[in-house]
Amino acid sequence: ARWLSRRSDGRLYAEAVPLSRIARAVGTPFYCYSAGALRQNYAALKAAIAASDVSICFAVKASSNVNVLAELARLGCGMDIVSGGEMARALAAGTPPERIIFSGVGKTRSEIRAALEAGLHQLNVESAAELEVVASVARETGIRAPIALRVNPDVDARTHAKITTAKKDSKFGIAIEEIPAIYAAASARAELKMVGLAVHIGSQILDLSPFRDAWAALADLVRRLRAAGLGVDRLDLGGGLGIGDDRHAGPDLAEYASIIAETVGDLGCALNVEPGRWLAGRGGALVSEVLYLKEGDGAPIAVIDAAMNDLMRPALYGAQHPVLTAEAPRPAGKDAACRLVGPVCESSDDFGKYEGLGTILAGDFVVFDNAGAYGAAMSSTYNSRDLVPEVLVDDGQFRIIRRRTNISDALKLEEPESWLAGDDP
Ligand code: LLP
Repeated sequence: ARWLSRRSDGRLYAEAVPLSRIARAVGTPFYCYSAGALRQNYAALKAAIAASDVSICFAVKASSNVNVLAELARLGCGMDIVSGGEMARALAAGTPPERIIFSGVGKTRSEIRAALEAGLHQLNVESAAELEVVASVARETGIRAPIALRVNPDVDARTHAKITTAKKDSKFGIAIEEIPAIYAAASARAELKMVGLAVHIGSQILDLSPFRDAWAALADLVRRLRAAGLGVDRLDLGGGLGIGDDRHAGPDLAEYASIIAETVGDLGCALNVEPGRWLAGRGGALVSEVLYLKEGDGAPIAVIDAAMNDLMRPALYGAQHPVLTAEAPRPAGKDAACRLVGPVCESSDDFGKYEGLGTILAGDFVVFDNAGAYGAAMSSTYNSRDLVPEVLVDDGQFRIIRRRTNISDALKLEEPESWLAGDDP
């Protein structure tokens, strides 16, 4: 069942709660998430890849609210983190450290130390230089570091250029031809425990064939390393599984599972994936109120109270989210489409034109679907706007899981400290 549905009273419901009811209770804009959808998305993926015994680590960056993480952790989901802040969130959500993987190209020394002390499952290391720092922290703390090397397989994920991560010129990972020497040298060091390899080729991938190319290259590499007498026990297959919308079909999970089985299924490695969008994207929406209507070129313009700082994806990637009205749509007037724009003083604060909304009036609520991933998590306070509340719906109930920030919160952070002399002590 879809988490958003229009019922016979004409209203749009999140599970069993009308979105207009939440809008009146908490004010707009706000993010709304469905606990049921998180559970359903997790269960569907888990079941699809069960045959290859693949474990799932949620990419925390996609939706980092600790309450969202706790919903997933309760299901047995692990976490893929990229900062000390995300580590703290994953642990606060009750994720056991042995289910947490630390990815990312720029881990600091103190983040590495915190990860080792917490006893995380694995660090995915992205350069020879980072490996040296991990080794040095491991010696310092006396904690042996479990390491996977992130491989850059030189594969084009054929998705938006800004979310492609595994072409040769990418900043991510270690070039595939450099891996054997680095892996061998690292395996000889007592402070490092080389456990395997990781890849992540990009995001919002709907045509799954790039996964096949990347994982086949990974499997080849495993065979070469083993032939050289090196142990490779784990493979982290990355995230990137896209989600469908009203214009694009979603990925075929059975095909995803069979690509895993065919490429890496017979290596005897422990496997995991790191989906962000797939778990959280289709269970979240941004709800906004229409402030003003104005004449536009070809389509009327509705100025809404949500902006690019709340949902950055349209401005940053040209992404279009499916848009619905919270109440039954009125019949369309002479214009089929309506253009939605935000209040921020930038031309790119423009969500684009949408059809099927009917006649929009001030006071209407518009709903951006598929915004549960990389929505609130990427938001900012640009134009001194508040961070909007996040609301979690579970069946017939809802609650605020992050309150709206206010300007006093912001001004408090800006209380000046005392002047320090500019010359070195
Ligand atoms: N693993 C690693 C190492 C990653 O860098 C990412 C995402 C993921 C997993 C999860 O990818 P997913 O399954 O969510 O596609 N802000 C962009 C997406 C950036 C993704 C960055 N890395 C967007 O809004 O489309």
